[in-house]
Amino acid sequence: MLKKEILQDNSDVTSNSKELEILKKHFSQCFDKEGNFISHKMEEIVGESGLKLSSESYSLNWLGKSYARLLANEAPHTLIKEDKSHNTKAQNKKSQNLLIKGDNLEVLKHLSNAYSESIKMIYIDPPYNTGSDGFVYNDDRKFTSEELSRLAGVDIEEARRILAFTQSKANSHSAWLTFMYPRLYVARELLKEDGVIFISIDDNEQAQLKLLCDEVFGEENFVANIVRNTNSSKNQSLFVSVSHEYCLIYTKNMETLKLKHTNKKWAVPKNNVDEYVKKVKQLQKEGLSNEEITEELKTLTKYPRFIDFTNYWYFDDRGLYRKDNLGGVKDGNMEPLFNPITKKIDPVPPGGYRYNKEKLTKLSNENRIHFHADGSLPTIKRYLHENMNQRPKSIMSDDQRPDYTLLQEFNIPFDNPKQLSFMQRILSIEDKDDIILDFFAGSGTTAHAVMQLNAEDGGERKFITVQIAEPTDEKSEAYKAGYKTIFEITKARIEKASQKIKEENPDFKGDLGFKIYETTPLWDGYLDDIATLEDETRLFDGSSLNDEELETLLTTYKLHDGIALSEALQEVKLDEYKAYLAKETLYCVHSGFSTQALKTLIEKLDSDATFEPSRIILFGYNFSTKHQRELDEALSSYANKKLIELDLIVRY
Ligand SMILES: C[S@@+](CC[C@H](N)C(=O)[O-])C[C@H]1O[C@@H](n2cnc3c(N)ncnc32)[C@H](O)[C@@H]1O
Repeated sequence: MLKKEILQDNSDVTSNSKELEILKKHFSQCFDKEGNFISHKMEEIVGESGLKLSSESYSLNWLGKSYARLLANEAPHTLIKEDKSHNTKAQNKKSQNLLIKGDNLEVLKHLSNAYSESIKMIYIDPPYNTGSDGFVYNDDRKFTSEELSRLAGVDIEEARRILAFTQSKANSHSAWLTFMYPRLYVARELLKEDGVIFISIDDNEQAQLKLLCDEVFGEENFVANIVRNTNSSKNQSLFVSVSHEYCLIYTKNMETLKLKHTNKKWAVPKNNVDEYVKKVKQLQKEGLSNEEITEELKTLTKYPRFIDFTNYWYFDDRGLYRKDNLGGVKDGNMEPLFNPITKKIDPVPPGGYRYNKEKLTKLSNENRIHFHADGSLPTIKRYLHENMNQRPKSIMSDDQRPDYTLLQEFNIPFDNPKQLSFMQRILSIEDKDDIILDFFAGSGTTAHAVMQLNAEDGGERKFITVQIAEPTDEKSEAYKAGYKTIFEITKARIEKASQKIKEENPDFKGDLGFKIYETTPLWDGYLDDIATLEDETRLFDGSSLNDEELETLLTTYKLHDGIALSEALQEVKLDEYKAYLAKETLYCVHSGFSTQALKTLIEKLDSDATFEPSRIILFGYNFSTKHQRELDEALSSYANKKLIELDLIVRY
């Protein structure tokens, strides 16, 4: 059956079309023939499960909210093009890592079919809207106030006010929220059910972002708001020297996340372990007694760098340890323990020991019990080297200064890159083979951290990172160093980081390459006359697209059809004609599809058991209406089941 499809059709889009589609799909009984929603039917359904309908609520509103919802619902306006010369280099050929150049809203929309519910972790560090970070609202959509009023469902006056700020490079809270809402909305669709998103932010927009995320992800899916000490040396405030920022964490579905982690709680490595151990060795070298060292360590762990070692103040031949309770139970073992220091019996904890006599004797013989010279309750030794991980803390006091030295080593000047160690810390929370997405790439810290962490723990994490080709300031160091856009910085950082990791880990066999794609505008004239497509008599004699443009079309189609960028297209020769197969989709985009090609296609479908496409996509401009019909008739006139079930889609 021949179907027509317009790839980037926004003619029916409104600010709630996606939600309506979901509602119609799952609650068709709540709609009448004319498409009206019958609310009492929904009340019945909801009421059956004991849920109460509430008319009380609060919500975040701003000028531009309906426009932001419209943007979230629109199809992309661009195509996706491959950087072939980069992608065919040996290291990148098989890479599953992606760097995509373009406006992230466009990119997220392109990814939304192929990567729907497949991303485990998103980290973003968006513009904080500090007033000096250069954030201004910028989009090139050209609506009239009448159009916007109709599509976004707002009155004409409101539409005018929205257009005033979308077209005037504003940086108000409303402008920032309008920028963030559609990006978060589409990003949510990419997350797996137990996926998590981490968003760095500071006081300028933290309050707005929290409420926005409550709306997009659901308040019940809030995980934590981490406070990260930045130890800012700038004392620009008259009153309080602000030395922290935030990282908000949400999950897509808290119940699924909880279920996944019932027996495997989140854990991250303790920070600065080597430095702490080195300090202890230094104190020993200085000839301090054990008691004196313990006192020194108590002071040292008051500093943020060593906060993770609070209580790890004691050591023996095995190493550093902290003391832990041997009691803390109700009906424990009441048999007393012999204290080898006092040579007396120690007191028993009020509820008894948590371990039986045999276990306690074994622990004592192995020198795993800390006895006290004053005869107070004995404690168990918890060694640092046996407890290198801990639950992530809501106050992160480590990794405070930006990695300027690291970037200097790469000869890359960039303001405020995130700390590599902070990124590695949060990336290490989840599984080792996840896809990690960062759609505000900047200097590419997330990509660097993914590769570095893989090299350190043998993981197979993959990254997708997105950066717009934002021009660098002509007076900036970056510009002087030859980086004309931030995208060039991102690319250079990932390449240099990959090189460094390879040199430092010669045995590491993991993926240190990456593929590059970019958004590209639709060609002039393409899709200009969608209206005339309905005219069946119109004959197309082939588009004027060259091979590279047709490849771009194929890449875009592939993503649209839910096929990941890493999935290769397989060339299928149909007589002289070149078609392409990916998963169950056969693409015919070139012109010149002959009767002989059609014959070969039917023979192949008939005789080749491994050739089983479920749909054929034709690029409409390269197939005349006559040709489309021929193909449709030929395919449907065969009795072969494979052919009858084949969808034929003409796409423009
Ligand atoms: C705060 S920086 C991210 C810094 C990054 N975390 C790092 O460690 O280097 C935000 C980045 O997002 C980029 N950006 C802003 N708007 C964008 C958009 N619409 N699409 C893609 N990138 C964007 C900016 O160019 C900037 O590089």
